[in-house]
Amino acid sequence: MKEASSETVFWNESRREANRSAVKEFIFIGLSDSQELQIFLFVFFLVFYVGIVFGNLLIVMTVTYDSHLHSPMYFLLANLSFADLCLSSVTAPKTIADFFYTRKVISVKGCFTQIFLLHFFGGSEMVTLVAMAFDRYVAICKPLSYTTIMCGNVCVGIVATAWGIGFLHAVIQLSFAVSLPFCGPNKVDSFYCDLPRVLKLACADTYMLDIMVIANSGVLSVCSFVLLIISYGIILLTIQRRPSDRSSKALSTLTAHITVVLLFFGPCIFIYAWPFPIKSLDKFLAVFYSVVTPLLNPIIYTLRNTEMKTAMRRLSQWNLNFWVK
Ligand SMILES: *[C@@H]1O[C@H](CO)[C@@H](O)[C@H](O)[C@H]1NC(C)=O
Repeated sequence: MKEASSETVFWNESRREANRSAVKEFIFIGLSDSQELQIFLFVFFLVFYVGIVFGNLLIVMTVTYDSHLHSPMYFLLANLSFADLCLSSVTAPKTIADFFYTRKVISVKGCFTQIFLLHFFGGSEMVTLVAMAFDRYVAICKPLSYTTIMCGNVCVGIVATAWGIGFLHAVIQLSFAVSLPFCGPNKVDSFYCDLPRVLKLACADTYMLDIMVIANSGVLSVCSFVLLIISYGIILLTIQRRPSDRSSKALSTLTAHITVVLLFFGPCIFIYAWPFPIKSLDKFLAVFYSVVTPLLNPIIYTLRNTEMKTAMRRLSQWNLNFWVK
Protein backbone atom coordinates (compact mmCIF):
# COMPACT_ATOMS: atom_id res chain seq x y z
CA MET A 1 0.00 0.00 0.00
CA LYS A 2 2.77 2.30 1.02
CA GLU A 3 4.73 1.37 -2.08
CA ALA A 4 1.79 2.05 -4.37
CA SER A 5 1.32 5.52 -3.01
CA SER A 6 4.97 6.41 -3.39
CA GLU A 7 4.75 5.14 -6.96
CA THR A 8 1.77 7.41 -7.64
CA VAL A 9 3.69 10.31 -6.23
CA PHE A 10 6.56 9.39 -8.50
CA TRP A 11 4.31 9.30 -11.59
CA ASN A 12 2.69 12.59 -10.72
CA GLU A 13 6.09 14.10 -10.20
CA SER A 14 7.36 12.91 -13.54
CA ARG A 15 4.21 14.06 -15.35
CA ARG A 16 4.65 17.48 -13.83
CA GLU A 17 8.28 17.37 -14.89
CA ALA A 18 7.22 16.44 -18.43
CA ASN A 19 4.81 19.35 -18.64
CA ARG A 20 7.32 21.73 -17.27
CA SER A 21 9.96 20.68 -19.84
CA ALA A 22 8.21 19.49 -22.96
CA VAL A 23 11.28 20.09 -25.09
CA LYS A 24 13.33 16.88 -25.43
CA GLU A 25 15.69 18.10 -28.13
CA PHE A 26 16.95 21.27 -29.70
CA ILE A 27 17.27 21.98 -33.39
CA PHE A 28 20.15 23.99 -34.80
CA ILE A 29 19.26 26.47 -37.49
CA GLY A 30 22.85 26.27 -38.70
CA LEU A 31 24.91 28.85 -40.49
CA SER A 32 23.17 29.14 -43.83
CA ASP A 33 20.31 27.80 -45.94
CA SER A 34 22.05 28.15 -49.27
CA GLN A 35 23.23 24.85 -50.76
CA GLU A 36 26.48 26.27 -52.20
CA LEU A 37 27.41 27.98 -48.97
CA GLN A 38 26.69 24.75 -47.06
CA ILE A 39 29.15 22.85 -49.25
CA PHE A 40 31.76 25.56 -48.83
CA LEU A 41 31.27 25.58 -45.05
CA PHE A 42 31.44 21.79 -44.91
CA VAL A 43 34.81 21.75 -46.68
CA PHE A 44 36.02 24.68 -44.58
CA PHE A 45 35.11 23.03 -41.27
CA LEU A 46 36.50 19.66 -42.35
CA VAL A 47 39.86 21.02 -43.52
CA PHE A 48 40.26 23.21 -40.46
CA TYR A 49 39.28 20.48 -38.04
CA VAL A 50 41.71 17.97 -39.56
CA GLY A 51 44.39 20.67 -39.30
CA ILE A 52 43.49 21.30 -35.66
CA VAL A 53 43.75 17.62 -34.75
CA PHE A 54 47.08 17.12 -36.53
CA GLY A 55 48.67 20.43 -35.53
CA ASN A 56 47.78 20.30 -31.87
CA LEU A 57 48.58 16.60 -31.46
CA LEU A 58 51.93 17.28 -33.09
CA ILE A 59 52.70 19.99 -30.53
CA VAL A 60 51.62 17.84 -27.58
CA MET A 61 53.69 14.90 -28.83
CA THR A 62 56.75 16.99 -29.64
CA VAL A 63 56.76 18.58 -26.19
CA THR A 64 56.09 15.28 -24.44
CA TYR A 65 58.75 13.25 -26.24
CA ASP A 66 61.52 15.82 -26.68
CA SER A 67 63.45 16.34 -23.46
CA HIS A 68 64.94 19.59 -24.85
CA LEU A 69 61.47 21.09 -24.57
CA HIS A 70 60.85 20.07 -20.97
CA SER A 71 60.53 23.61 -19.64
CA PRO A 72 57.52 25.46 -18.19
CA MET A 73 56.97 27.48 -21.38
CA TYR A 74 56.60 24.38 -23.53
CA PHE A 75 54.56 22.48 -20.95
CA LEU A 76 52.12 25.38 -20.90
CA LEU A 77 52.12 25.46 -24.69
CA ALA A 78 51.31 21.73 -24.80
CA ASN A 79 48.48 22.29 -22.34
CA LEU A 80 47.19 25.15 -24.50
CA SER A 81 47.25 22.90 -27.56
CA PHE A 82 45.49 20.15 -25.69
CA ALA A 83 42.77 22.59 -24.55
CA ASP A 84 42.44 23.86 -28.13
CA LEU A 85 42.01 20.35 -29.45
CA CYS A 86 39.35 19.54 -26.85
CA LEU A 87 37.60 22.87 -27.33
CA SER A 88 37.04 22.42 -31.03
CA SER A 89 36.22 18.72 -30.63
CA VAL A 90 33.19 19.71 -28.57
CA THR A 91 31.49 21.36 -31.54
CA ALA A 92 33.31 20.75 -34.84
CA PRO A 93 32.69 17.00 -35.39
CA LYS A 94 28.97 17.38 -34.80
CA THR A 95 28.80 20.49 -36.97
CA ILE A 96 30.57 18.63 -39.78
CA ALA A 97 28.21 15.64 -39.49
CA ASP A 98 25.22 18.00 -39.34
CA PHE A 99 25.91 19.33 -42.84
CA PHE A 100 24.42 16.04 -44.08
CA TYR A 101 21.11 16.61 -42.33
CA THR A 102 18.51 19.25 -43.00
CA ARG A 103 17.20 18.73 -39.47
CA LYS A 104 20.14 19.23 -37.14
CA VAL A 105 19.05 17.76 -33.81
CA ILE A 106 20.72 17.66 -30.41
CA SER A 107 19.22 16.23 -27.21
CA VAL A 108 18.75 18.53 -24.25
CA LYS A 109 21.41 16.56 -22.34
CA GLY A 110 23.77 16.79 -25.31
CA CYS A 111 23.18 20.50 -25.48
CA PHE A 112 24.02 21.08 -21.84
CA THR A 113 27.05 18.82 -22.18
CA GLN A 114 28.29 21.01 -25.03
CA ILE A 115 27.79 24.13 -22.95
CA PHE A 116 29.59 22.60 -19.98
CA LEU A 117 32.57 21.36 -21.98
CA LEU A 118 32.89 24.59 -23.96
CA HIS A 119 33.10 26.63 -20.77
CA PHE A 120 35.40 24.08 -19.12
CA PHE A 121 37.96 24.00 -21.94
CA GLY A 122 37.53 27.67 -22.80
CA GLY A 123 38.01 28.73 -19.17
CA SER A 124 41.10 26.53 -18.78
CA GLU A 125 42.51 27.96 -21.99
CA MET A 126 42.10 31.52 -20.76
CA VAL A 127 43.87 30.82 -17.49
CA THR A 128 46.61 28.94 -19.38
CA LEU A 129 47.15 32.02 -21.56
CA VAL A 130 47.54 34.13 -18.41
CA ALA A 131 49.99 31.55 -17.03
CA MET A 132 52.01 31.72 -20.25
CA ALA A 133 52.20 35.50 -19.93
CA PHE A 134 53.31 35.15 -16.30
CA ASP A 135 55.97 32.64 -17.35
CA ARG A 136 57.35 35.07 -19.96
CA TYR A 137 57.17 37.91 -17.42
CA VAL A 138 59.35 35.97 -14.97
CA ALA A 139 61.72 34.82 -17.71
CA ILE A 140 62.28 38.32 -19.10
CA CYS A 141 61.87 40.62 -16.11
CA LYS A 142 63.28 38.37 -13.37
CA PRO A 143 65.64 36.07 -15.30
CA LEU A 144 67.88 35.29 -12.32
CA SER A 145 65.09 33.84 -10.22
CA TYR A 146 63.31 32.07 -13.10
CA THR A 147 64.34 28.55 -12.09
CA THR A 148 63.36 29.09 -8.45
CA ILE A 149 60.00 30.69 -9.26
CA MET A 150 58.96 28.37 -12.07
CA CYS A 151 60.18 25.09 -10.57
CA GLY A 152 58.46 21.83 -11.44
CA ASN A 153 55.89 21.86 -8.66
CA VAL A 154 54.85 25.44 -9.37
CA CYS A 155 54.31 24.64 -13.03
CA VAL A 156 52.17 21.60 -12.20
CA GLY A 157 50.28 23.75 -9.69
CA ILE A 158 49.64 26.45 -12.28
CA VAL A 159 48.34 23.91 -14.78
CA ALA A 160 46.13 22.30 -12.14
CA THR A 161 44.78 25.73 -11.19
CA ALA A 162 43.98 26.50 -14.82
CA TRP A 163 41.94 23.31 -15.22
CA GLY A 164 40.38 23.82 -11.79
CA ILE A 165 39.21 27.35 -12.60
CA GLY A 166 37.85 26.13 -15.94
CA PHE A 167 35.89 23.41 -14.15
CA LEU A 168 34.55 25.77 -11.50
CA HIS A 169 33.54 28.30 -14.12
CA ALA A 170 31.68 25.66 -16.14
CA VAL A 171 29.90 24.24 -13.07
CA ILE A 172 28.73 27.69 -11.98
CA GLN A 173 27.65 28.58 -15.50
CA LEU A 174 25.63 25.43 -15.92
CA SER A 175 24.13 25.26 -12.44
CA PHE A 176 22.11 28.37 -13.22
CA ALA A 177 20.77 26.98 -16.47
CA VAL A 178 20.22 23.28 -15.89
CA SER A 179 16.99 23.60 -13.92
CA LEU A 180 15.29 25.92 -16.41
CA PRO A 181 12.03 24.76 -17.99
CA PHE A 182 11.94 24.51 -21.79
CA CYS A 183 8.47 24.26 -23.19
CA GLY A 184 8.29 26.51 -26.17
CA PRO A 185 10.25 26.86 -29.39
CA ASN A 186 13.36 24.70 -29.59
CA LYS A 187 15.27 26.19 -32.52
CA VAL A 188 18.76 27.38 -31.58
CA ASP A 189 19.95 30.03 -34.00
CA SER A 190 23.50 28.70 -34.23
CA PHE A 191 25.43 25.53 -35.09
CA TYR A 192 26.17 24.53 -31.49
CA CYS A 193 24.64 25.10 -28.07
CA ASP A 194 25.61 28.54 -27.00
CA LEU A 195 24.40 29.46 -23.53
CA PRO A 196 23.02 32.96 -24.29
CA ARG A 197 21.00 31.58 -27.23
CA VAL A 198 19.70 28.56 -25.34
CA LEU A 199 18.62 30.79 -22.46
CA LYS A 200 16.44 32.74 -24.87
CA LEU A 201 14.38 29.57 -25.44
CA ALA A 202 13.54 28.94 -21.79
CA CYS A 203 9.94 29.58 -20.81
CA ALA A 204 10.82 31.52 -17.71
CA ASP A 205 12.05 34.97 -16.99
CA THR A 206 15.79 34.68 -17.57
CA TYR A 207 16.73 38.29 -17.04
CA MET A 208 18.67 37.61 -13.83
CA LEU A 209 20.18 34.52 -15.39
CA ASP A 210 21.37 36.47 -18.41
CA ILE A 211 23.12 38.86 -16.09
CA MET A 212 24.69 35.98 -14.14
CA VAL A 213 25.98 34.40 -17.33
CA ILE A 214 27.39 37.65 -18.63
CA ALA A 215 28.90 38.36 -15.22
CA ASN A 216 30.49 34.93 -14.89
CA SER A 217 31.91 34.68 -18.41
CA GLY A 218 32.51 38.38 -18.67
CA VAL A 219 34.43 38.61 -15.42
CA LEU A 220 36.64 35.65 -16.33
CA SER A 221 37.39 36.89 -19.84
CA VAL A 222 37.81 40.57 -19.00
CA CYS A 223 39.97 39.83 -15.92
CA SER A 224 42.19 37.44 -17.89
CA PHE A 225 42.43 39.95 -20.70
CA VAL A 226 43.39 42.84 -18.40
CA LEU A 227 46.00 40.66 -16.65
CA LEU A 228 47.41 39.71 -20.03
CA ILE A 229 47.58 43.29 -21.27
CA ILE A 230 49.33 44.40 -18.06
CA SER A 231 51.89 41.59 -18.09
CA TYR A 232 52.70 41.96 -21.79
CA GLY A 233 52.88 45.74 -21.30
CA ILE A 234 55.45 45.36 -18.51
CA ILE A 235 57.43 42.83 -20.55
CA LEU A 236 57.54 45.07 -23.62
CA LEU A 237 58.65 48.04 -21.52
CA THR A 238 61.39 45.94 -19.92
CA ILE A 239 62.65 44.78 -23.29
CA GLN A 240 62.67 48.31 -24.61
CA ARG A 241 64.68 49.58 -21.66
CA ARG A 242 67.31 46.83 -21.86
CA PRO A 243 67.90 46.07 -25.52
CA SER A 244 70.17 43.08 -26.03
CA ASP A 245 70.77 40.32 -28.53
CA ARG A 246 68.29 38.12 -26.72
CA SER A 247 65.53 40.67 -26.83
CA SER A 248 64.78 40.21 -30.54
CA LYS A 249 64.14 36.51 -29.94
CA ALA A 250 62.00 37.39 -26.93
CA LEU A 251 60.13 39.92 -29.02
CA SER A 252 59.23 37.34 -31.64
CA THR A 253 57.95 34.92 -28.97
CA LEU A 254 55.94 37.74 -27.46
CA THR A 255 54.42 38.77 -30.77
CA ALA A 256 53.23 35.18 -31.21
CA HIS A 257 51.70 35.14 -27.72
CA ILE A 258 50.01 38.51 -28.15
CA THR A 259 48.55 37.50 -31.54
CA VAL A 260 47.04 34.36 -30.00
CA VAL A 261 45.64 36.36 -27.10
CA LEU A 262 43.95 38.90 -29.34
CA LEU A 263 42.51 36.19 -31.60
CA PHE A 264 41.14 34.28 -28.66
CA PHE A 265 39.74 37.11 -26.61
CA GLY A 266 38.38 39.31 -29.39
CA PRO A 267 35.47 37.01 -30.35
CA CYS A 268 35.02 35.76 -26.81
CA ILE A 269 34.55 39.16 -25.22
CA PHE A 270 32.35 40.16 -28.10
CA ILE A 271 30.03 37.18 -27.61
CA TYR A 272 29.84 37.14 -23.82
CA ALA A 273 30.68 40.52 -22.44
CA TRP A 274 29.49 42.90 -25.16
CA PRO A 275 26.27 44.47 -23.92
CA PHE A 276 24.67 44.96 -27.35
CA PRO A 277 24.48 41.68 -29.28
CA ILE A 278 24.59 42.01 -33.05
CA LYS A 279 22.57 39.03 -34.14
CA SER A 280 24.09 37.62 -37.28
CA LEU A 281 27.63 38.70 -36.57
CA ASP A 282 28.19 36.74 -33.38
CA LYS A 283 27.12 33.52 -35.06
CA PHE A 284 29.96 33.93 -37.54
CA LEU A 285 32.37 35.03 -34.83
CA ALA A 286 31.62 31.69 -33.20
CA VAL A 287 33.02 29.96 -36.31
CA PHE A 288 36.20 31.88 -35.73
CA TYR A 289 36.44 30.75 -32.20
CA SER A 290 35.52 27.11 -32.73
CA VAL A 291 37.75 26.27 -35.72
CA VAL A 292 39.96 29.22 -36.72
CA THR A 293 41.74 30.17 -33.46
CA PRO A 294 42.49 26.56 -32.42
CA LEU A 295 44.24 26.08 -35.77
CA LEU A 296 46.13 29.35 -35.64
CA ASN A 297 47.76 28.54 -32.30
CA PRO A 298 49.86 25.62 -33.59
CA ILE A 299 50.68 27.52 -36.79
CA ILE A 300 51.79 30.65 -34.98
CA TYR A 301 53.83 28.79 -32.39
CA THR A 302 55.57 26.40 -34.73
CA LEU A 303 56.30 28.72 -37.64
CA ARG A 304 57.82 31.37 -35.43
CA ASN A 305 59.72 29.10 -33.12
CA THR A 306 62.98 27.54 -34.32
CA GLU A 307 63.36 25.36 -31.23
CA MET A 308 59.95 23.86 -31.89
CA LYS A 309 60.76 23.26 -35.54
CA THR A 310 64.07 21.57 -34.71
CA ALA A 311 62.34 19.38 -32.15
CA MET A 312 59.71 18.35 -34.69
CA ARG A 313 62.43 17.43 -37.16
CA ARG A 314 64.12 15.35 -34.44
CA LEU A 315 60.81 13.69 -33.63
CA SER A 316 60.18 12.73 -37.25
CA GLN A 317 63.73 11.36 -37.59
CA TRP A 318 63.30 9.37 -34.42
CA ASN A 319 60.02 8.00 -35.69
CA LEU A 320 61.56 7.07 -38.99
CA ASN A 321 64.45 5.23 -37.31
CA PHE A 322 61.98 3.53 -35.03
CA TRP A 323 59.88 2.18 -37.89
CA VAL A 324 62.80 1.28 -40.15
CA LYS A 325 64.57 -0.76 -37.46
C1 LIG B 1 50.57 20.20 -18.94
O1 LIG B 1 51.47 20.69 -17.99
C2 LIG B 1 51.89 19.73 -17.03
C3 LIG B 1 52.67 20.42 -15.93
O2 LIG B 1 53.81 21.05 -16.38
C4 LIG B 1 52.69 18.65 -17.74
O3 LIG B 1 53.19 17.70 -16.83
C5 LIG B 1 51.78 18.00 -18.76
O4 LIG B 1 52.51 17.07 -19.52
C6 LIG B 1 51.16 19.04 -19.69
N1 LIG B 1 50.11 18.42 -20.49
C7 LIG B 1 50.25 18.15 -21.79
C8 LIG B 1 49.07 17.60 -22.49
O5 LIG B 1 51.28 18.34 -22.37
